[in-house]
Amino acid sequence: MRVLIIGANGQLGKCLSDTKPEKLDLISYSKEEFDLLDIDKCLQKIDRDKPNYVINAAAYTAVDKAETEKEIVEIINAQNPYKIAYKLQNLGGKFIQISTDFVFSGLKSSPYKTDDDLSPLNEYGKSKALCEKLLLELNNSKTIRTSWLYSPYGKNFCLTMLHLHKSCLEKKVPLRVVSDQISCPTSCFSLSNVCWKMIINNEIFRNKQKIFHWSDSGVASWYDFAVAIGEIGLKLGLLEDNSKVLPIKSKNFPTPAKRPCFSLLDSSDTCDLLKLERNHWRFELENVIEQIKLIN
Ligand SMILES: NC(=O)c1ccc[n+]([C@@H]2O[C@H](COP(=O)([O-])OP(=O)(O)OC[C@H]3O[C@@H](n4cnc5c(N)ncnc54)[C@H](OP(=O)(O)O)[C@@H]3O)[C@@H](O)[C@H]2O)c1
Repeated sequence: MRVLIIGANGQLGKCLSDTKPEKLDLISYSKEEFDLLDIDKCLQKIDRDKPNYVINAAAYTAVDKAETEKEIVEIINAQNPYKIAYKLQNLGGKFIQISTDFVFSGLKSSPYKTDDDLSPLNEYGKSKALCEKLLLELNNSKTIRTSWLYSPYGKNFCLTMLHLHKSCLEKKVPLRVVSDQISCPTSCFSLSNVCWKMIINNEIFRNKQKIFHWSDSGVASWYDFAVAIGEIGLKLGLLEDNSKVLPIKSKNFPTPAKRPCFSLLDSSDTCDLLKLERNHWRFELENVIEQIKLIN
């Protein structure tokens, strides 16, 4: 079974490679090797490689910058992934797309279900929602929505906070983090495991359901996440001490893109279908910080 990963140098792409089940053959393409802005070359590679599965771990993920690059964001995050999935359908291959909790407005007060209405607040969320809608037309594609991804690789909140805990401590200033946006941190390793399970348990592709949710279990604000990163970083010896973390309101930390204040995902369907149990996000966080320690 041949699996092709798009966006192999992103944080999810790297965790997918780290966790690949032995019996699968992997073709991994970085942005340079498979640029979603050059669709003709991408389609040629799909035609040549004829993968059984494609996992799309590539995306335009700079949420704030996306506000001013709407057209490019839509091509990278929606139109061209759809063209690849369509081509793959004609070749008999299957497509796994990763989407986001940012497709929701955040006005609910209970976890979002897979069939809740989409109402994204920013251009990044709109492009991901458009991709979901386009892929619903195809029979070979499944979309996994996830939230607040982090890993030992690339740019993510966990690595940024480890750095800020150190620098705020040195400067003797508190670390201020928003406490009124609520969802759940998700380890790229736990999401990778779901992608591999979907491929190995081919039943999923016979199932009519096309949209899935996957987050680690529990609930957190960015403030809770930052506090836990400090505590676990200290416990595992990555930090000598942690800086004081102060909760702030989103309105005091304005960003170009609006973000949902509540976007917790209900992952129960995925757990049932794949017979998976979720770990609490603090447990997954400790695993990731252990990996960060090993790499450094
Ligand atoms: N990060 C989160 O919190 C989060 C939450 C929910 C869902 N998601 C979704 O999860 C998936 C994986 O995200 P991630 O956190 O792993 O993102 P990431 O670390 O930013 O990786 C995305 C990868 O896509 C590449 N890329 C950008 N433009 C491309 C193009 N034109 N053609 C091909 N590749 C391109 C990037 O390359 P460069 O770095 O060189 O630009 C990067 O290697 C994405 O679909 C994202 O929307 C992420």
